[in-house]
Amino acid sequence: ATNQTFTMIKPDAVQDNHIGAITQMIEAGGFRIVALKKTKLTSERAGQFYEVHKERPFYEGLVNYMSSGPIVAMILEKENAVADFRKLIGATNPAQAEEGTIRKKFAKSVEANAVHGSDSDENAQIEGDFFFAADERF
Ligand code: CMP
Repeated sequence: ATNQTFTMIKPDAVQDNHIGAITQMIEAGGFRIVALKKTKLTSERAGQFYEVHKERPFYEGLVNYMSSGPIVAMILEKENAVADFRKLIGATNPAQAEEGTIRKKFAKSVEANAVHGSDSDENAQIEGDFFFAADERF
């Protein structure tokens, strides 16, 4: 297992000025920020990023939403990063997210759920590579 995971702060949370508060929770949770950028996905790039969900009924809405405004992408490092980060962000559906999690605090809906977190070491690697070159990681 690697010690890295990948996250995005999603368009609603960026729009609502929560970049600082979310990044604060991430660092306070023991993660180091290896790479970070604010960028905007085209619908084509968002479609590629979420390609695994292509057959799902929510795919088109998700792609439109994720390309609707800027996002903040980060590679994070910590022992047991993937699992620990999923604990920190809470359940995908904010109605089920536990108290103290990022989604409990900032998510508005299943779609506009404030942050993304990789679900496996393999996807963490793929997703980090999607946004960051080697010379953007420290
Ligand atoms: P994320 O962790 O970015 O990975 C896939 C995303 O799809 C997920 O967060 C949700 O925002 C979104 N998603 C998952 N299930 C649904 C659903 N039933 N309806 C709408 N969006 C969903």
